[in-house]
Amino acid sequence: MDEGRASRTAIATAYFRAHHYGHANPKIFEDSLAGALLRVQEREGLEKFFLERLATLNPGLAGSCADRATLVGHALRGLVVVLARARYTEDRLAEAIRDGVLQYVVIGAGLDTFALRRPDLQDRLRIIEIDHPATQASKRLRIGDAGLTLPPNLHFAPADLEKESIAEVLSRAPYDPAQPAFFSWLGVTMYLTEDAIGATLRSLRSTAAAGSQLVFDYLDRAVLAPENQSATRSSIFETVRRIGESMIFGFDPSALGAELAAQGFRLLESLGPEDLEKLYFAGRADGLRPTGSAHLARVAVA
Ligand SMILES: C[S@@+](CC[C@H](N)C(=O)[O-])C[C@H]1O[C@@H](n2cnc3c(N)ncnc32)[C@H](O)[C@@H]1O
Repeated sequence: MDEGRASRTAIATAYFRAHHYGHANPKIFEDSLAGALLRVQEREGLEKFFLERLATLNPGLAGSCADRATLVGHALRGLVVVLARARYTEDRLAEAIRDGVLQYVVIGAGLDTFALRRPDLQDRLRIIEIDHPATQASKRLRIGDAGLTLPPNLHFAPADLEKESIAEVLSRAPYDPAQPAFFSWLGVTMYLTEDAIGATLRSLRSTAAAGSQLVFDYLDRAVLAPENQSATRSSIFETVRRIGESMIFGFDPSALGAELAAQGFRLLESLGPEDLEKLYFAGRADGLRPTGSAHLARVAVA
């Protein structure tokens, strides 16, 4: 990503959560604060961008008399994993907290608002957000500008994870390696090299106590092959490449368990598009459903 500026994919995913919160019913995921962290010009720029994208990919729909919010909602459908991964993570995190987990580490947090939305957990859960310094500095400003207060249980750990390991970053954060933790790593694996993925998993393994869990989303490696690119998918890939956050990595879902076992993790749950559809999207009248590339994994430190 661009060294000097906040991640633009983090802004885009927050925009999607805000749009979904404002316009979709029923809601897959309720992010009541994502909108507050976005600048007016970002909202306007992204709305324009998604409407133009719809006009290219589906001119018939773009020219229909549907209102703007509905049209933007259609254009955002290719990113629907953003909602499913956030919902799944917070559902599993709630279970982990019930089981006594006291620390939550959000790797590549972007404009995640969990800590801001859950003042009820201030006395029970330490939340450590690790992110690129530029994205994190921008988030701090946005929180202040929105008139929101930083919760005392939220700790920022700025780091460039291409230069520093998770274990190094956590060693200077209020993180207790002797206690199990819940880790999320959402919207990040697809942007890393295979080496960086392996290094992150090894480092996490070295600092996470037994009983810790990690949730992450990933691309099915097959969709990266040029012959498997649909028009929608190649338009997403091209857009993120142009803003300097190219999607380059995917796992093979059928080999994931063995690959993770080799790194010291036990695959607890692996969800593909059909599983996610059954879990969160069944019976929707608006046709919102996961795309073929949406995959989530939940693993335990073995
Ligand atoms: C697509 S965003 C995902 C944000 C959030 N997890 C979500 O689901 O909306 C990718 C995140 O990874 C972070 N990131 C990318 N490269 C990084 C690096 N080298 N070191 C630390 N964070 C990085 C970005 O700053 C951004 O917050």
